[in-house]
Amino acid sequence: MEQKIQRIKESALQDLNKAGNREKLQELRVKYLGKKGLLTKVLREMGKVPKELRPKIGQRANEVRQLLEGELDNRLAVLREKEKEKKLVEEAIDVTLPGRPVARGHKHPLTLVLEEIKDIFMAMGFEVAEGPEVEYDYYNFEALNIPKGHPARDMQDSFYICDEILLRTHTSPVQIRVLEDRVPELPVRIIAPGKVYRRDDDATHSPMFHQVEGLLVDKQSTLGDLKGILLAFARQMFGQEREIRLRPSFFPFTEPSAEVDISCMNCKGEGCRVCSGTGWLEVLGSGMVHPKVLANTGYDPEEVVGFAFGMGVERIAMLKYGINDLRLFFDNDVRFLRQF
Ligand code: DAH
Repeated sequence: MEQKIQRIKESALQDLNKAGNREKLQELRVKYLGKKGLLTKVLREMGKVPKELRPKIGQRANEVRQLLEGELDNRLAVLREKEKEKKLVEEAIDVTLPGRPVARGHKHPLTLVLEEIKDIFMAMGFEVAEGPEVEYDYYNFEALNIPKGHPARDMQDSFYICDEILLRTHTSPVQIRVLEDRVPELPVRIIAPGKVYRRDDDATHSPMFHQVEGLLVDKQSTLGDLKGILLAFARQMFGQEREIRLRPSFFPFTEPSAEVDISCMNCKGEGCRVCSGTGWLEVLGSGMVHPKVLANTGYDPEEVVGFAFGMGVERIAMLKYGINDLRLFFDNDVRFLRQF
């Protein structure tokens, strides 16, 4: 029996020295010390050992057991250390390698155009004003001389929250809010950029889009002033050789009203696909502020005059960059966005 224990010890130590990884060690632990392990078996067979020898043999077997356990643990620690070193070498960071640059984003084309529009008008003395996107029917329509049931409402198919509240269909309500705030101050000279909402969805219409409103109210202001300011805008935005023209139109909140065209930058006015052969591109609505609008805000239409205009930012951006589908602005496809 003692010899058997000795042999187990020797073969175990040999095996242990050869074990090259943790799995192998675990196998050995089972092989020698496990429930059915060789040493465990010996201990089970103690019954066959003569009584007087049992304490000695038992003690011996326990010594070997302890020895093996210790050796297994040592070996495990050694293997762990080795693995750690290997990992350190394999995963070492070469600090001399050039860094990988983080891709830098940039402003959305609509933001770029909006900033350009703002810069142009601010340089001409306009302040930037803002209003809420969820708006009262009163500001969006009523105060702008578009009463309930007025056919002009049909041009702006709206998202209503309830009877009296809707998503604003244009930035014109900011005219009313600013005038109410400032009355009787003069001059009032603002632009109001922002999001607007209509029930439209195709290649040239999106249910959400952007407008910039312009408003100037003073003791003196004329259609000529309006034209001069819009010409300056058109030239800075689309090139110094641009011309503009005003066509008679109708908006309930201006009188007279005009649709403003700029000469086509694609064909220089000769007529092409972009301008449908006319040489002109329609870019905004404008006019002299209607006396009723002024009166609604507390200004005296006998004492002050003003002009206003409103343009679609997407439309300006599409013309400026030659984009033919408005939905591209909102698809978030970097292949498109990267080009600006
Ligand atoms: N609010 C008009 C629209 O969305 C655009 C507009 C036209 C604004 C004439 C104006 C204006 O300020 O004077 O269709």
